[in-house]
Amino acid sequence: MTDVFRLPTPGEVGAFYDEANELITRFQGGNMHYGYWTGPDDDSSFEVAGQRLTDIVIDKLGVRPGDRVLDVGCGPGKPGVHLARRTGAAVLGISVSERDVALAGARARAEGLADRAVFQHADATALPFEPESFDAVMLLESIVHIPDRAQVLGQVSRVLRPGGRAVLTDFVRRGEDLEQDAETQAAVAAALWAWRAAPLVRAEDYPGFAEQAGLVIDEITDITMQTMYTYPRTYEAMREYAERHDDLPEDLQRILDMGLDEDFDPDMVSEGVIIVALHRP
Ligand SMILES: C[S@@+](CC[C@H](N)C(=O)[O-])C[C@H]1O[C@@H](n2cnc3c(N)ncnc32)[C@H](O)[C@@H]1O
Repeated sequence: MTDVFRLPTPGEVGAFYDEANELITRFQGGNMHYGYWTGPDDDSSFEVAGQRLTDIVIDKLGVRPGDRVLDVGCGPGKPGVHLARRTGAAVLGISVSERDVALAGARARAEGLADRAVFQHADATALPFEPESFDAVMLLESIVHIPDRAQVLGQVSRVLRPGGRAVLTDFVRRGEDLEQDAETQAAVAAALWAWRAAPLVRAEDYPGFAEQAGLVIDEITDITMQTMYTYPRTYEAMREYAERHDDLPEDLQRILDMGLDEDFDPDMVSEGVIIVALHRP
């Protein structure tokens, strides 16, 4: 049996996405990240809400035509290709999933952007690039898989030129740390493991991570209230799929089996999402 308290390795994360990325993008409107809804009355599709979050991150990156942008954890390439098209920048996307890289490259070719959106297999914890070789780095929901946030930010800092910017999204714990019995701890660890996610950090940890990495935080934005509609929608899409097909990967089936939290109270959200914008001095 899997030890759910074990931290996911880059290889294990890559194997998870090799198997699940096409279904996750199907459940999440073409991306593999949270959607951004303005409130309970916003009935935007997942595709629209996901694109909105991509655009918010791109706005914060502030890149210009001709800039070189590293997209860390590119998934099947929708955000990276969009970034290249919208800004005129040249994007190099990386992932630990070969299947991500293949799909992202195919998307860039299909959209006529293969000259400015290129994808390759690489691990963010050991970036194979020269120092100061990028103007900006985007980490859209990829750092969530990396247990040592400060270490990967150190890699980002090394490849950024002075003055270059990085923008990331991360999953965080919020509010008081509640005492958890062993059963709850195991359930939380199992849910994280099912997505090959690393243990959650807190927004308050980020200044320390940035300092260790030689980066400066410009802004931390809590988007929990805008993104909290993501999980119920992903879950419903997964459930509908499972009713008609019998090929749901084991990890996604496990997520489905865990069920939705019926007592979900928006005022007591203990897990959330932040956007962090940083620059290299
Ligand atoms: C939740 S998906 C996000 C994909 C894409 N950024 C998006 O928003 O649609 C996480 C991505 O991060 C990648 N990833 C996770 N750990 C990584 C690492 N150590 N190095 C490179 N990529 C990694 C995964 O392979 C996957 O492509």
